[in-house]
Amino acid sequence: MTNKQLLLQLQKEQDLPDSQLKQLLETFSSEDLKYASLLAREVKIEHYSNKIYLRGIVEFSNICKNNCYYCGLRRDNKNIARYQLNSEQIVSCCKNGYKLGLRTFVLQGGENYIYDQGKLTSIIKEIKKEMPDCAVTLGVGEKSRELYQQWFDSGADRYLLRHETINPVHYSKLHPSDQVLENRVRCLNDLKDIGYQTGAGMMVGSPYQTFDNLVEDLRFLKEFNPEMVGLGPFIPHSQTPFANEATGSYQLSLLLLAIVRMMLVKVLLPATTALETVNPEGRKLGLLSGCNVIMPNISPMKNRKSYKLYNGMAEIDDNAEEKIRQIKTMVESIGDRIVIDRGDYKRMKI
Ligand code: 5AD
Ligand code: SF4
Repeated sequence: MTNKQLLLQLQKEQDLPDSQLKQLLETFSSEDLKYASLLAREVKIEHYSNKIYLRGIVEFSNICKNNCYYCGLRRDNKNIARYQLNSEQIVSCCKNGYKLGLRTFVLQGGENYIYDQGKLTSIIKEIKKEMPDCAVTLGVGEKSRELYQQWFDSGADRYLLRHETINPVHYSKLHPSDQVLENRVRCLNDLKDIGYQTGAGMMVGSPYQTFDNLVEDLRFLKEFNPEMVGLGPFIPHSQTPFANEATGSYQLSLLLLAIVRMMLVKVLLPATTALETVNPEGRKLGLLSGCNVIMPNISPMKNRKSYKLYNGMAEIDDNAEEKIRQIKTMVESIGDRIVIDRGDYKRMKI
């Protein structure tokens, strides 16, 4: 079958055999990518019409006990100023975001214990008390089931934890031996079981990644059926062991976004910052490939340069208000519209 026929079948069946997924990833042309984007956008429009949801990201601490080989926040990077925002600063970022029309706040930070003993719990409660019509998303890594449950009971709605790669051998090439895939998957299962809208996902073009790995990732996503998928190109960071590795392809990232939209039709799919970092048009191309979420940074300007996961990370220079204005213009230029809404996962057609 030609790639176009495969894409059409994928749109119709919401799945393809692994060998055909691999064929698409390995052999797609720019015409195939255009066609994949078109089909994925049809699916997005069918399930979410022309709505785009915004999430305000608060990067509340860059302190991390982990040492992922790809990430600029890894503990062995001695070249960044480590910081942690206090409760008032975090809540104040969210309140500013609220005034700008945001109704989901993503509290994102490196993995550390500082906020585990009740601090994050009280921050979640405070945000939900002050802004009851908002959703709170957490992205703070691997924790115990009990802690996930405590945060959920305090009002957290969603949790982002990319699996990064579902192949254990590949996982061990991206992380030191004290970080294991098994625990990552345990966390994802706990989160979903507790009732979080859960986000998984992977980097595209991470070192040692093969097309077979990406097919395994797609198969995992199809089976795990997360409510959200975070997916963007790998970008090297100069202060990491992967400093000299190549940047992941944005075309392959776009194709994968389109495939994810067709396999998980209702998924909340952000056009990621990494995509915009490798291509200034990246977010727009993401929306044209089936994405329906954009996550502007609402962290204090002075901390942003210390939260660089990779080189050239976009959004360091734009304040939230200006960025949201730019996003709105871009979104409207392709016929979509930003809605002031929590933007929950839709189990039913809307
Ligand atoms: N390039 C692209 N994405 C990265 N992330 C971390 N480091 C990089 C990098 N160098 C992604 C990981 C992580 C998320 C917070 O950011 O997928 O889960
Ligand atoms: Fe820490 Fe997350 Fe970066 Fe890994 S990816 S080093 S856990 S901040």
